[in-house]
Amino acid sequence: MDESPNQVVDAMVRDFPGWEPGTRPAHAKGTGAKGFFKPTVVAGSEYCKAEPFAGPAVPVTVRFSNASGLWSVPDVAQNMRGMAVKFHLASGAVFDLIAMNVPVSPFRNLDEFLELASAAEPVPVHHQPRWRQILDLLALRQSPPAPPPGQQTSSVDGVFRFATTHPSSMDGVLSMSLASPPASYAQTAFHAIHAFLLTGANGVVRAVRFHWDPVSGGRFLTRADLPVEDNYLNTELTERLALAPVDFILRAQIGESGDDTSDPSKAWPWRRPIISMGTLRLTGLVEDQIADCERISFNPTRLVDGIACSDDPVLRARGPVYQASYERRTAVPCPFASPGQD
Ligand code: HEM
Repeated sequence: MDESPNQVVDAMVRDFPGWEPGTRPAHAKGTGAKGFFKPTVVAGSEYCKAEPFAGPAVPVTVRFSNASGLWSVPDVAQNMRGMAVKFHLASGAVFDLIAMNVPVSPFRNLDEFLELASAAEPVPVHHQPRWRQILDLLALRQSPPAPPPGQQTSSVDGVFRFATTHPSSMDGVLSMSLASPPASYAQTAFHAIHAFLLTGANGVVRAVRFHWDPVSGGRFLTRADLPVEDNYLNTELTERLALAPVDFILRAQIGESGDDTSDPSKAWPWRRPIISMGTLRLTGLVEDQIADCERISFNPTRLVDGIACSDDPVLRARGPVYQASYERRTAVPCPFASPGQD
């Protein structure tokens, strides 16, 4: 396949009938927060000479999001969540680190991403009759999982078909399906998934994978929390930040020789050393959610000297697509800005 970045954005939009121009084609609903990142001494002196890790604390902008392309999606929807962090460096440079609450990807390259996007286009739901489910069971065939009651269209069958024809996608599809709604953005672990190359102060280059660990621990929504309002994650974060700051630790898992840096669908062995690169402290929400959150661009290839892309083809493909998407959505007014705000 040889799609242009704009065609990739079009393919993403087809998964979300009702998507609104002026919003992101994925992760359309977000909440912006601000704070600072303070590196640990060991990160800068040994593992990475780049400014975010080798200097003093720097201001950050963080956007938490729901992976859906619909900004009206209720927070309780079963879906993945994102955490995009922008480090505003003293030199004027900017470093973006984008992560999700799943550790691996269901696709290994742009072709597979597009295949999955096409498979995930919602189609009218076929409720399997009971007799068909029993026949499938007797023939040891897997019936597609039942769609939620009342739902007219679904992507589930398509994603399920993609998973069965792409065995490498199994870990990613499984973690996507298990990504239950979090109780709080402050209690969710996020993973940047790809390998990045860090150059240490002594010139040594190491492959790492980044993970954000919430200091308040992880917690999913439970039945006991229900019912919740459609924007409970935003409300919860606002109330939490009014009481105390929210901290995340940035950890780097250090790859060893032989670890595959090009395949985001496979986790590295858990025994790899993990070091703490620093602490991110959120102190409040950004004042202007439109200008300082919705209208800004995060890009996983926006890196600084000392941090480089690995040979992961998914990471490399994302750069131009995020840029095209940003240019498209900011060329039209933001649909949820109040008049005069955009
Ligand atoms: C080839 C694979 C991928 C493509 C083509 C793609 C494409 C996109 C696009 C076009 C956007 C909207 C960008 C904008 O308008 O500013 C987006 C947002 C996002 N993507 Fe991806 N994506 C891919 C893989 C991933 C992966 C592996 C992750 C996991 C870390 C990820 C996490 C996110 C997050 C968290 C956002 C929201 C960023 C924000 O808040 O601005 N994406 N993606």
